[in-house]
Formats: sequence, structure tokens, C-alpha cells
Amino acid sequence: MADKLSPKVSIIGCGNVGMRYAYSMIIKGAARELVLVDYNRQKAEGEAMDLSHGAPFVSPINIYAGDYPDTANSDLVVITAGRGQKPGETRIDLIKGNAEILKSVVPQVVKYSPKAIILVASNPVDILSYITYKISGKPANEVIGSGTVLDSARFRFLIGKHCNVDSRSIHASIFGEHGDTEFPMWSKAMIGGVLFKDYCKVCNKENCAKQEDAKLNEIFEDVRDSAYEIIAKKGETSYGIGLALTKISKAILKDENSVLPVSSLLDNYHGVSGIYLSVPAVVNKGGIRQTLQVDFDMVELDSFINSAEQVKKVIKASGF
Ligand code: 2OP
Repeated sequence: MADKLSPKVSIIGCGNVGMRYAYSMIIKGAARELVLVDYNRQKAEGEAMDLSHGAPFVSPINIYAGDYPDTANSDLVVITAGRGQKPGETRIDLIKGNAEILKSVVPQVVKYSPKAIILVASNPVDILSYITYKISGKPANEVIGSGTVLDSARFRFLIGKHCNVDSRSIHASIFGEHGDTEFPMWSKAMIGGVLFKDYCKVCNKENCAKQEDAKLNEIFEDVRDSAYEIIAKKGETSYGIGLALTKISKAILKDENSVLPVSSLLDNYHGVSGIYLSVPAVVNKGGIRQTLQVDFDMVELDSFINSAEQVKKVIKASGF
């Protein structure tokens, strides 16, 4: 095989999520070589051709469909394979089928790219990241779940909309499970260095619901239930997660040391160990450099423990 071009990224699963991710990686010039793997080889080939025809409009990149040997020596392997939610289903409902898929995917990924960072996006992402870690035999820092990076983006978008501020100027996070037990970090949310709870004093927006509990709950519930609403309306979610995966990928491939709410293996994080959940983590070319211990208020701590209990319960039931 020809020498690889760096950085080399392989995508396992060419459904909507995998392809939106591929598209945003190309637009951002974040990879030099992109391998598309799917059980439907013909679909992967068609996607590779279609994407490749944008070559004159983007930075140089080699895109091709392949099988696992073609993924050899990837710097990053992103797993999007598996079924998505149908209307009315929760992410947890996907565990059985998607865990089975990992049993065949992960050993192949590790065989050909033992040093790659593995980024898991398939749902339920916290459980599947843990299962990937277990099957792979890799150090935990090299197996990352996309976690609540997307939920935090939805949170920043909705706060930005409420306050009429660019969402990039908002520091606010959702932690815990990427799912129904996730929770908002209101106590640490900030807009341009002003704590969110003090923001009304400096904002002076007329006719505003301000920070009434009902408004804050509405914002959070909209975040938590976004995927349900999008799936009910269009059948799947993919653009937001594609961009979120690109953000995480850049942190890895460009050794950025970015702090992101990805899903990582916890080690005595507020007393919780041995499961994957989203908390702030420093992400670089080694994967997870470290997690940052956040000072939760009482409500946040209760929510975090509740999220951990839920994830533990599902892992136990899954037999891993
Ligand atoms: C999302 O939150 C379904 O997990 C996917 O968009």
C-alpha cells in the first residue's frame, strides 16, 4: 500500500451521520486522507466519488471507499455505524443491535490501526464508548465518545437565541449522559465573562422572560428533547453531530488541548468511576489528556449521580 497521507481518518459507517461528518471535515480541511467503510461497499464508493468531485473547491484530500485493511495506520477512526433512533425510541433502545455491530467493527479497527484514537458517535454513545474501550483493549484515553458536545452546542445556540448573543460568545455546557438524564450546568454558564445568573442586570432587553425558572427549564428541555423533535420531523439527526465530530476531530488531529464535554472513562469523578460519561476533558493528539473536576451545585451533583446510575444500569444489563 502507498504511504499514508497525514492526517488519515477512517469513518466506519456511511449513513447520514458519517457522511455529514465527512463533508464538514472536507470543508474544514481537517484531514488529508479519508477512508469510507460501510457494509454496503457500493454506497461507500458512491459517497467517495460524490465527495471527491468537490476537490477543486477544498484543500487537497484523498477520499476513497475501502475495507478494514485500507484503514491501516489511521490517526483517527470514527465509528458512526449502527442504527439511529426511530420516532418515539430512546437512544438506550438501540443498545442491543448497535453493541453487536461493535463486536465485529472494533477488533478490525484495532488490528489495522493499533495506535489510532477511536471516536465513537453511535448511540447510546456513553455505553457504546465503554463497550468499545472494553473490546479494544486500548488505554481509556484513546477511546472517546462524542458525548454531550452536540447537546452543549444546542444549549449555547438556544441561550444565544434567548439573549440575542452570538452562541460562540457563550460558555455553557450540558454534562452527564448523552440522553434523557443529561443536565445543564446553569451555575457556571457565562456570556462574555458575565455569569449567566447576573446577565439580566447588564442586558436591559425589553419584554424579556428574563431568567424565570420556567424559561430556563424550557431552554433545557428544548436541548434535551431536540433529537426527538428533529427525528419526528425529518427522521434522523446528522448535521449538528457531523459538525460536533469535526470539532472533536480537529482537537485530536491538530493537538489542540481543547476542553470539550466528550464522553470519557471516569476515575473518581465526584465519586464515580469505571463508566463513560461527559464531563469537561482536555482533548489532544493522545485523546483525553485529563478531565477537569467541576464544582457542582447540589442540583447538578444529584443530576450527575442520577446520570451515572442510569448508565451503570444499562451497562450491567448489556452484559459488558
Ligand atoms: C442527537 O442527539 C440522535 O444522538 C443524536 O442528535
